[in-house]
Amino acid sequence: MSTIQEIIACPLCRKTIAEVPQQCNTCHNSFQQELAKIPSVVDLTDKALQRQTENSVTETKPLRTELFRSPIVSFLYERILPPLWAVGLRNTGGIDAEFRLCTEFLGQNPGIVADVSCGTGIMARRLVKWGRCEQILALDYSETMLTELQQQMQLEGISPSEIIIIRADVEALPLAPNSIDAIYAGAAMHCWNNATEGIRNIYQALRPGGKLLATTFLKPYPSIVFQFFSPEELRHIVLTAGFHSDDVQVQASGFYGIIKCIK
Ligand SMILES: C[S@@+](CC[C@H](N)C(=O)[O-])C[C@H]1O[C@@H](n2cnc3c(N)ncnc32)[C@H](O)[C@@H]1O
Repeated sequence: MSTIQEIIACPLCRKTIAEVPQQCNTCHNSFQQELAKIPSVVDLTDKALQRQTENSVTETKPLRTELFRSPIVSFLYERILPPLWAVGLRNTGGIDAEFRLCTEFLGQNPGIVADVSCGTGIMARRLVKWGRCEQILALDYSETMLTELQQQMQLEGISPSEIIIIRADVEALPLAPNSIDAIYAGAAMHCWNNATEGIRNIYQALRPGGKLLATTFLKPYPSIVFQFFSPEELRHIVLTAGFHSDDVQVQASGFYGIIKCIK
């Protein structure tokens, strides 16, 4: 059984505390201080850790990422979208269907599961109630989405220790290589700045045999704010990231793409 010290890595030097407790003076001290705050939300974005040593660090992400940091979007996200998803805006059957897809793919002993770009933790909270995961981590770039996740956990009686909540950038993912059994990234890739980099980081974090389930919207939705892909482009991304073609499935269900990969 892995400990937090073995799973969570510094987003700057990519080392865990278990690996290099003393080295890497600049990033590791701030990383260690942040990690000590668990089970409160920790900020492990590369920029946040850099800011502790340099003053002039700026965060600029595209609108498709920044949009979700707005408190209004985070507040409305789960209060408005699920009924629309259920009538087919996301997939047939909405989030309940996606939860079934997720649990069927993860199997009965999913181990350590990370919900990457978790938003309000709509899947992470369901996984807690499912009761089969050894550990659940929920990571998102938006601090306001994570605040909403905490509030929903409180309302649903989920204790802070049941989900490790991390503010993180998928492009500098603070997860140790080969440490995670399964990663879910729901309706997320179209919001990232660089989907290939995000999936590459996910690939590296998965242990051999580890599973990725990712969903996203597809072309011909126009890429005005979000970056939509065709099924062929999604396949190219996961293969470039390192997955082997025999272990990759990309399905299109209307304008919704479902990616299943095994490392
Ligand atoms: C459409 S929401 C999906 C939320 C949730 N997974 C779901 O299924 O409802 C996309 C999420 O991706 C997050 N996101 C965007 N860019 C990101 C990045 N670079 N790193 C991590 N999360 C990011 C946003 O903050 C937002 O919460």
